[in-house]
Amino acid sequence: MTEKRNATNISIILGLSVVLMLFIFVLVAHHRDIPDRIQQHRGALLGTGSSVDERIKPVGQVDVAAEKTPQEPVKIAVAASTPGRDGKQVYQAGCVACHDAGIAGAPKLGDKGQWAKRIAKGLDTLYASAVNGVTGSAGAMPAKGGNPALSNAEVKAAVDYMVAQSK
Ligand code: HEC
Repeated sequence: MTEKRNATNISIILGLSVVLMLFIFVLVAHHRDIPDRIQQHRGALLGTGSSVDERIKPVGQVDVAAEKTPQEPVKIAVAASTPGRDGKQVYQAGCVACHDAGIAGAPKLGDKGQWAKRIAKGLDTLYASAVNGVTGSAGAMPAKGGNPALSNAEVKAAVDYMVAQSK
């Protein structure tokens, strides 16, 4: 009787141990992948992906995009900051103020009679007049038409445009 009870106690203890070990095993296995899950959830909470690029990208990028793709504004920004306006654009942004109507004695765009004697002086002279300014019989023109922000190349392009329109 006593031996039988001892045997029963031992098997109960053994059984409990097995259950306990199973429990511990399941617990450990369950928590092993938690660091990964924390990272996933953190990404979701921050509203960003997990790559560094995505996390540090400029906040305003999408707003500037207008209806184009997100890549588009970058190209536009570069184009705008590059001194690459053509002669017509430079003319219409500034020179037009005097040269369209012949203000202050400026030779009018397209007026072949007024331009013929100037074109005869050669392009280099016209470039120099436009870049440095010129005071002649007709009137006075400020250097670069009064816009020092223009590059020499832009002023020359505008001269080319005006000459092409006036001969
Ligand atoms: C504030 C008025 C004004 C603006 C703005 C202006 N011009 Fe003139 N421009 C003149 C006047 C006035 C003359 C005539 C000067 C003279 O020969 O008596 C002239 C003459 C010229 C000539 C002929 C120069 C020569 O040697 O015969 C060129 C080329 C010219 N301008 C280019 C330009 C360009 C390019 C721009 C823009 C970047 C420009 N101008 C902006 C007033 C202006």
